[in-house]
Amino acid sequence: ILKSVILIGGPSKGTRFRPLSLDIPKPLFPVAGLPVIQHHIEACSKVDNLSEILIIGSYLASDLSQFIQEMISIYKITIRYLQEFTPLGTAGGLYHFRDQIRSGGPTYFFVMNGDVCADFSLQEIVEYHKEKQALLTIMATEATRQQSLNFGCMVLDKEGKVAHYVEKPSTFVSTLINCGIYLASLDIFQTMADAFYAGQSQENFMQFNGNSKDPAHISLEQDILMRLAGTGRLFALPVLKWWSQVKTAGSAIYANRHYLNLYKAKHLDRLASAVNGPCQIIGDIYIHPSATVHETAVLGPNVSIGPNAVIARGVRIRESIILANAHIQAHSIVLHSIVGKSSYVGEWARIEGTPCDPNPDKPFAKMENLPLFNTNGKLNPSITILGTSVRLAAEKIVLNSIVLPHKELTRNFKNEIIL
Ligand code: GTP
Repeated sequence: ILKSVILIGGPSKGTRFRPLSLDIPKPLFPVAGLPVIQHHIEACSKVDNLSEILIIGSYLASDLSQFIQEMISIYKITIRYLQEFTPLGTAGGLYHFRDQIRSGGPTYFFVMNGDVCADFSLQEIVEYHKEKQALLTIMATEATRQQSLNFGCMVLDKEGKVAHYVEKPSTFVSTLINCGIYLASLDIFQTMADAFYAGQSQENFMQFNGNSKDPAHISLEQDILMRLAGTGRLFALPVLKWWSQVKTAGSAIYANRHYLNLYKAKHLDRLASAVNGPCQIIGDIYIHPSATVHETAVLGPNVSIGPNAVIARGVRIRESIILANAHIQAHSIVLHSIVGKSSYVGEWARIEGTPCDPNPDKPFAKMENLPLFNTNGKLNPSITILGTSVRLAAEKIVLNSIVLPHKELTRNFKNEIIL
């Protein structure tokens, strides 16, 4: 049997996703209508003999309990949340909860970074891992030479063994990067134990120097992958299907488009029909069944409308996510934006952002997760975000701005963070 572990971090992570992560944990943010990690759970539910999913993070268990109950009832699979008392790093939690992972005697287990969005190739990884008799297999993809420096980079030999692995190298190593999806055999806990004890002895020294990490902190990338590279037991499977991550809010719009596109092949039932849809539909659109959409609205391409949202007469929305209970009043337009929960957009208003898509002219380009400000201290153009319960007055324009929750906007805004 197999198991899967999804690493979701905790409230101190996902800071680049604010203000959207202020009232919902980032792993539960809806992309193409489903919480980010529901896409992981759905992919796991399709793997042969996968008996249990463990979610490890440092969010309060109560933040996730309702979601987990829903997932259990939809996918009929055992799912449990294991809470870290403090962030233990990408492998510290795996090691801390090793008995939970080993119980029931799985042969292998997946480790999935919760912020990855992809056309997961889990079954292929299982077949590859078995064939290679690997200790750990990394799902890998290509990046551009320049962007590779932001990821874990590896060099493979002819058989697919990882000869070198460097996390976020300062000079070029390879365009083959780590996707944050792994399959491990149980012996990996021995390597983790070695890293744990090495960390413990180092910690005695570090405590003296005031290092704040927990002594049980282990990084999968730094402490395990780098240690295993060149030993002949670490393999990578290069995969060329779509892969991205949810880091900034802009990357959620990008992932939204790709998951909607995947529904065409795998879940046509989730897409609004261009023929019988509630309004004019262009391209791939998800509309929650409880949302109300006026027949004269025009949606698309690449729009997700959340539960109980109201889209009034003549509204135009493109490349955007509208969250639960938001109201978009008549004749407003929303482009490249995220409209927060329970927000209200008055009539004839305009909300517009700038897409931050990968450069289409560069093969294998990934999204640039630009910092909020550029080196001149100016806000980098990005998608527009209205936080929870924002009210935008009629006929106003919000362009390339980030609006924190509960703001009342009564004038136009351009390139601003509205605190
Ligand atoms: P950067 O954000 O650029 O550092 O990229 P990264 O992809 O390397 O991110 P990171 O290693 O921080 O996180 C990878 C995944 O692991 C994310 O889904 C995080 O939520 C999760 N994660 C990171 N740290 C921890 C941790 O201490 N505990 C748990 N359970 N999950 C973690």
